[in-house]
Amino acid sequence: MTANDREWVDKTKKLILEKESLVADRTGDKIPYTTVNGIFDDKSDVRDINWWTNGFYGGMLWLMFKETGDEKYARMAKNIADKISVCFDRYYQLDHDMGFLWLPTDVASYRLTGDENGRRRGLHAANILAGRFNPAGNYIRAWNDGIGKENGPTSNVGWCIIDCLMNLPLLYWASKETGDPRFKHVAMLHADMAIKNFLREDGSVNHIVEINPETGEFVQSFGGQGYGLGSSWTRGQSWALYGFLLSYLYTGEKRYLKASEKVADYFVSCIPESGLIPVDFRQPKEPAYEDSTAAAIASCGLLELAKANPSNASKYEEAALKMLKALTEKRCNFTDKTDNILEYCTASYHANDHHFAIIYGDFFFMEAIFKLAGSDFKVW
Ligand code: GLY
Repeated sequence: MTANDREWVDKTKKLILEKESLVADRTGDKIPYTTVNGIFDDKSDVRDINWWTNGFYGGMLWLMFKETGDEKYARMAKNIADKISVCFDRYYQLDHDMGFLWLPTDVASYRLTGDENGRRRGLHAANILAGRFNPAGNYIRAWNDGIGKENGPTSNVGWCIIDCLMNLPLLYWASKETGDPRFKHVAMLHADMAIKNFLREDGSVNHIVEINPETGEFVQSFGGQGYGLGSSWTRGQSWALYGFLLSYLYTGEKRYLKASEKVADYFVSCIPESGLIPVDFRQPKEPAYEDSTAAAIASCGLLELAKANPSNASKYEEAALKMLKALTEKRCNFTDKTDNILEYCTASYHANDHHFAIIYGDFFFMEAIFKLAGSDFKVW
């Protein structure tokens, strides 16, 4: 990084710290997903409590705690973890996103404060995640068919998704923590399956793949949250880039580093001049849908990749800086008028709504800026 880059990082970090302190005070015990008129909504009601993004605000609070040491963030984050522990009683709604829910909350709490509740609940979550593994096809099943219908015939019993790579660190952590390698083996089998069935020749990845749950054979892929079949949903590319790298960092297996680099090289080659990332790299020119979350997540992955592979570090770091600067200049709101920082986030190409605040956009933006500022705290 140049001296100018460092100055920009310090300034951006300061803006984040100031805004997040104020936002925490007015957020109280809410668990936000998006904003309504600029103010965080609340997914802590029991009917919403299993929503896959409910760990991210807790994660932002732990990032703030790590930077400031202010106990108010730890108290708020622990409160969120207590609330989401209700999910264990709502078994039918639990799915592959155990890592997204428990790594930024209970596991972060354990890592930063030695919280025994956090360790126990993190291990409980890891066991449920490992229990979704289908050894016929070596995949962790995505989603559930219908609430309470686990034993009936299902249509998506063979589905797995690229996003799930980001849940694997919960399994690696559980193996490290307990000395029992079975969690790690499940994670590696799933990551190997993803290399085989998701990673395309050009470095792009599928979003959803269906495996025959009895024979383990590849059946078909789906466009999922992207533009369509064979397209290139950018957040999925980001999950792959970062997720494969995390498998490398936990296992040291070079094939995961290679997979991450392959996705990264593809991703970097697609970054538009503006540095702003579309929802799908293969979407039509109009409407010009964007997804700031994909830029923030990919930046985190690229910054870690730069550290893991010093020979290509500058290429990956420059790409991350380009996207993060574009976000900071054009897609961030640091005023006290809104609770969110990042704007122009999109959950899914074909959804009715586009370009709104999404909590994991803010989480990964913060993670990326704090990484650039030198933080070594790992949520994943
Ligand atoms: N993991 C779901 C998503 O990225 O929208």
